[in-house]
Amino acid sequence: MEITLVSTYQKLSEVAADYVQETMKSRAHCVLGLATGETPVGLYAQLVRRYRRREISFKNTTTFNLDEYVGLRPADESSYHYYMHRHLFRHVDMDVNKIHIPLGAAADLEGECRRYEYAIEDSGGIDLQILGIGRNGHIGFNEPGSTCTGRTRVVQLEASTLEANAQYFPSVQDMPHEAISMGIGTVLEQSRHILLLASGAAKAAAVEKMLSADETTGKLPASCLQLHPNVTCVLDYDAAANLSDSVVRENRVLEGGV
Ligand code: GLP
Repeated sequence: MEITLVSTYQKLSEVAADYVQETMKSRAHCVLGLATGETPVGLYAQLVRRYRRREISFKNTTTFNLDEYVGLRPADESSYHYYMHRHLFRHVDMDVNKIHIPLGAAADLEGECRRYEYAIEDSGGIDLQILGIGRNGHIGFNEPGSTCTGRTRVVQLEASTLEANAQYFPSVQDMPHEAISMGIGTVLEQSRHILLLASGAAKAAAVEKMLSADETTGKLPASCLQLHPNVTCVLDYDAAANLSDSVVRENRVLEGGV
């Protein structure tokens, strides 16, 4: 893996936006895989800024989001649909027909998961997949115990994930305990380049385990990324604080920019 170390969250967001911009510019039509959560908020703000400066256009970009809570409708303020429109889509020139987010309110959830898998395949795969990482090492909503070959499916959320995300809901009782998540197998097979972003000390333990050589058993979902040939991790110093010398030796570690 390639690891880019940055000093601040602001820098992390700029470096991530550089990767996205480079991918968008290198293709006439670009497919992005998008993540939610606190971590990519700065990246999306950067992309909006660059769009306003006319440095990028989203007209020829297709997007696939990683996940959505089961039962939430797109208009629900706690949904990832709402999040994406609030932070990115409504500020840029996205073609709404090219936006894909699993429909958590679908009557046939399994059918929705199958439809989502086909849609990703039909698009020709993902040029750049953005990932965050949960404190328990989840990617998307693939919780510990998920296999590295899993497909898009309905998943149960762990108590620690519910706790971490409760801030986005009126109360923990209101939170769905299930989500539709792209599988780790889907991410690994369909993405040509994966960009994992991690910021803050709360992520240091998960980041360290993700990069440790003996962790491809599915116990820590993010460690499956070791199986992919083209992963870039952008970490701020706090998230990278636990990296061992062997991890630094075995991976390509860069300081700063792209
Ligand atoms: C959430 C999302 C993930 C995200 C992760 C970390 O539950 N499903 O896609 O990467 O948890 O979120 P944050 O960036 O807020 O720490």
